[in-house]
Amino acid sequence: AGTIAIRGRLLSFDADPAVAGEAEAVRFIEDGIVVVRDGVIVEVGEGPVIVRRLDPGTPLVDHRPHLVLPGFIDPHLHLPQTQVVASYGTELMEWLAKYTFPEELRYGDSAVAGEAARFLFDTLAANGTTTAAVYCTTHPVSAEAFFREAERRNLRMIAGKVMMDRNAPEGLLDTAELGYEQTKELIAAWHGRGRLEVAITPRFAPTSSEAQLAAAAALAAEHPELPIQTHLSENDAEIAYVAEAFPWSKDYTDVYERYGLVRPRALFGHCIHLSERERRALAEKGASAIFCPTSNLFLGSGLYDLAASRALGLKTGIATDIGGGTSYSMLTTAAEGYKVLALNGQKWPAFEAFRMLTAGNAEAVGIEDKVGRLAPGLEADLVVLDSRATAPLRRRMERVETLAEELFALMILGDERTTVATYAAGRRIYDRYQAGHRPLAP
Ligand code: GUN
Ligand code: FE
Repeated sequence: AGTIAIRGRLLSFDADPAVAGEAEAVRFIEDGIVVVRDGVIVEVGEGPVIVRRLDPGTPLVDHRPHLVLPGFIDPHLHLPQTQVVASYGTELMEWLAKYTFPEELRYGDSAVAGEAARFLFDTLAANGTTTAAVYCTTHPVSAEAFFREAERRNLRMIAGKVMMDRNAPEGLLDTAELGYEQTKELIAAWHGRGRLEVAITPRFAPTSSEAQLAAAAALAAEHPELPIQTHLSENDAEIAYVAEAFPWSKDYTDVYERYGLVRPRALFGHCIHLSERERRALAEKGASAIFCPTSNLFLGSGLYDLAASRALGLKTGIATDIGGGTSYSMLTTAAEGYKVLALNGQKWPAFEAFRMLTAGNAEAVGIEDKVGRLAPGLEADLVVLDSRATAPLRRRMERVETLAEELFALMILGDERTTVATYAAGRRIYDRYQAGHRPLAP
């Protein structure tokens, strides 16, 4: 509550630099102020101008010379996989069976899920991530525990209870009817409460019967405004299984299309091995592909093709995919994304990457009217970054001349150590001094 002013080097994106050009897209104010009232941004502008107009007594936090950006958005990660991260030696289907499903069985206990949610939110805040789209487990208590903790912290969060009625251990299965009923109950209890949204969350085609996909279709039709999240075209064995289990399908994407799950706000994790028809279908129906580079490298799944998505107008977001993914940091995630694209013969300038971490992910998730930019009317979810936080960064910065070069080095070398502070609805939820980190002496 109340008004605060936050001063720093402001960076925000009005458009995609790849489409609109840098001059149109990049909003940078070397000495800027964001004025926040009751958790909402009310003014953004030049520091020296705004500071003179502020009511005396308005608290002003001066973060100069640090960068102030919209908080990062992580559009795909798994609550029950914080203790699966860095499990050795498998690819997707074996990784699920050997490590992930046994761990997810523990999340029928609300205390286990609550403890994981507290760890997750603390860690996301330390990394400057203020919004995430999260898979819980099949157990409704896992999602309830997640939402309770998110509400306590007044975070903008999206989550769903997983729908999964086959090809997993008995204790992780629901049924078509149960998955429907439990999702309905979750929507009634939590959707639209505070800054929370419920996502319809069929895990992926291999773990849902056609009856369950039909139930997901019914949920989607009854709630056209809801986000949907699932996995698509991540791994060769997965794709082969889908072709066998759904013999009528043209391809993997067709399974989701048949059940009305391809639409705006539908988030498809991975999307690595898509055909042109599939990319076109996703694009035409307004769905989003979610690029998960650390996961795709770690599980050996493949290389996302950003140029192909762009050419067909398929929106792309970028996410950690904890715990197939290996870092909670969206900077590290972008750095690995850069390397994936490099292996694919593609270049990804820092302005485009930072835009994807903020306004681009907001657009992919369909929350661009709430967060993702520094603009009046949007929620004051912010991250403050120190591009000289570590010795390698400081050394590199001695040769850096432009903002684009600075951001590129920050993305390649940065991680949670570069987070100075994180704000959610104008409230500081992370502070590196309180966390015991000391920046290097000036
Ligand atoms: N496909 C279905 N479930 C999962 C999961 O938990 N992680 C990843 N990376 N892919 C999946
Ligand atoms: Fe995933």
